Amino acid sequence: MNKMNDDFILSNGYKIPCVGFGTWQTPDGDTAVSSVKAALRFGYKHIDTAAVYGNEKSVGTGIAESKVSREELFVTSKVWNKDRGYEKTIAAFNKTLSDLGLDYLDLYLIHWPANSKQFTNWDEINLETWRAMTKLYKEGKIRAIGVSNFLPHHLKSLMKTEIPPMVNQIEFHPGQMQNETVDYCKKHNMLVEAWSPLGTGRMLSNDTLKEIAAKYNKSVAQLCIRWCLQNEVLPLPKSVTPSRIKENTEIFDFVISDEDMSLINSMDYCGGSGMNPDEVKF
Ligand code: A2P
Repeated sequence: MNKMNDDFILSNGYKIPCVGFGTWQTPDGDTAVSSVKAALRFGYKHIDTAAVYGNEKSVGTGIAESKVSREELFVTSKVWNKDRGYEKTIAAFNKTLSDLGLDYLDLYLIHWPANSKQFTNWDEINLETWRAMTKLYKEGKIRAIGVSNFLPHHLKSLMKTEIPPMVNQIEFHPGQMQNETVDYCKKHNMLVEAWSPLGTGRMLSNDTLKEIAAKYNKSVAQLCIRWCLQNEVLPLPKSVTPSRIKENTEIFDFVISDEDMSLINSMDYCGGSGMNPDEVKF
């Protein structure tokens, strides 16, 4: 990957720009509008949002006001947990599309798996939600479909369906690599996307990372984003600050050495959100 609009190729052949702009915790209204506009101005081609972020209308306004042609853009959203199941997923998708002011999505994800702590029939629920995703995909309303926060045992049944997930978006940053899930996804031709590639900012004060970043004359944020790409994971850094939004695109003029990659890859668990998909109560 050499620039923001270089692509990963999904299992169905669809192209996905290699860095996405995250919008989790971006306040709705002017902040969301202006940060999306800044991202598109600084070269992002890929915006990641979700119904539960509560900012889809503003994200859509930012996209519209940027006047970037729709074909050049890649837009992802996610179906929230209260909308699991066939009918509800289709209704949620239609609302998302209308809130974003778009007529198709590039990627739609199941935000979290139904888990066994909350549901005895969790697998069935995930399959029903997936049936809706598949229908929307076949109708051409979504160019690619996937999941988020799914662990291998949540993925097993979906892998046996007609159209298996193309993407799994998980928490991924130095200190939280989820190797088992990443290996499973790679083995099954599923692209892994990183939410919170900076550990929601928590990794920025890490001494090991500070030391390594300094060697390359880069910030820790740039190191973390580059590190995702070199692990073949698609980073989704979030910022509402124009200078940082720009800084986070300047990641193609250095290469992390194999030695430093190994050092970061072997860091002990740290900086994680602590949200375990098998345990969460939402
Ligand atoms: P802000 O949005 O106020 O600019 P993550 O992508 O892992 O979720 O991390 C997002 C957090 O990291 C936000 O608090 C964001 O702050 C902060 N952040 C994003 N990019 C940078 C950067 N280049 N330097 C410092 N902080 C950053």
